[in-house]
Amino acid sequence: MTTEQTSGGITRRDFVAISSAAGMAAFIAPSVLGAQDTGSSLKPLKVALIGCGGRGSGAANQALKADKGVILWAVADVFPDRMDSCLKQFEKHPSKDRVQVPAERRFSGFDGYKQAIASGVDVVLLCSAPHFRPMHLAEAVAAGKHIFCEKPMFVDAPGYRSVVESAKAAKAKNINLMSGFCWRRSAPEAATFAQLEKGTLGTPMAMYSCYYTGPLGTNKRQPGWSDMEFQVRNWQHFNWLSGDQMVEQAVHSVDKVNWCFRNEPPKSAVGMGGRQLREAMPERGDVYDHFAIVYEWADGRRAFLNCRQEPDCYFENTDWIAGTKGQCFINGWGPT
Ligand SMILES: NC(=O)c1ccc[n+]([C@@H]2O[C@H](COP(=O)([O-])OP(=O)(O)OC[C@H]3O[C@@H](n4cnc5c(N)ncnc54)[C@H](O)[C@@H]3O)[C@@H](O)[C@H]2O)c1
Repeated sequence: MTTEQTSGGITRRDFVAISSAAGMAAFIAPSVLGAQDTGSSLKPLKVALIGCGGRGSGAANQALKADKGVILWAVADVFPDRMDSCLKQFEKHPSKDRVQVPAERRFSGFDGYKQAIASGVDVVLLCSAPHFRPMHLAEAVAAGKHIFCEKPMFVDAPGYRSVVESAKAAKAKNINLMSGFCWRRSAPEAATFAQLEKGTLGTPMAMYSCYYTGPLGTNKRQPGWSDMEFQVRNWQHFNWLSGDQMVEQAVHSVDKVNWCFRNEPPKSAVGMGGRQLREAMPERGDVYDHFAIVYEWADGRRAFLNCRQEPDCYFENTDWIAGTKGQCFINGWGPT
């Protein structure tokens, strides 16, 4: 498992647990799981987890906590060891009796997701490397499953078009499809943006958003790994798999910009980025380590987004919004 160690010594999973526990507890809960009455005689909800890494294990944990009728029924991952380490975490879990994943419902390889989706489940949690998400989502929608779909949903234009089609099909089929944009479920952020929507700040004219953190962890190449295995085990560091830091991580900030400007697409976006402090080692792939983007709307409103993953620098994940009647500051990792 990649640790996604940051230079401050916390992992991204720790961060999720620490910084937004209240919001994240509801993350996968009622809207995807159907909000069953806990402990009731309603039909159990069987869940398949696809992508058994840090986030996938967390998502499965949240699903089990969300409702006593939830059963973790199947798992899929390209690599069997990732499924094993994920399931090991549940051996002492308070809901371990609802982790019912025998060997025949552990599906490895690149096609394992198909078998997990077809294993008789009601809900699927899509938590693999992002490159594969459009394919996994399309299969889950075609099979009529309710879906928790981690961000980013795609990393390129064909992926975007596929996800738009899947989202339309999910709506037509009345399937619950929930994204991993966790700030939408975080109480302080939701309350702040509700004020914005009420017009408390007037019209938002400018937003500055930043995501400054350290480099993510790597997995050293092991004897016997193919090039494909090496890259998939280091997916965050390869553009084709992750979409780069901007898409993989700072997409949370892009989401908040969208939230602020009510999902109205900007007229233009001008950006720059580079690779300054990534060590010269194969595990560090081809992704940049810093970006700066200026979004501009037709009437001149602007948003400025900076992100970086560099060692030994300070961390910040904040947003500042200036409206015609006032301004506000949002601190994702601290008091807002
Ligand atoms: N919403 C959030 O706050 C949040 C937090 C962390 C991660 N994430 C997202 O969750 C996703 C997973 O991140 P992670 O931190 O768990 O990474 P990870 O590397 O810990 O886990 C990813 C897992 O997916 C597996 N995988 C890769 N390709 C696969 C495929 N084709 N089929 C099945 N399994 C496959 C890998 O082997 C690995 O076990 C990413 O998209 C990431 O951006 C979201």
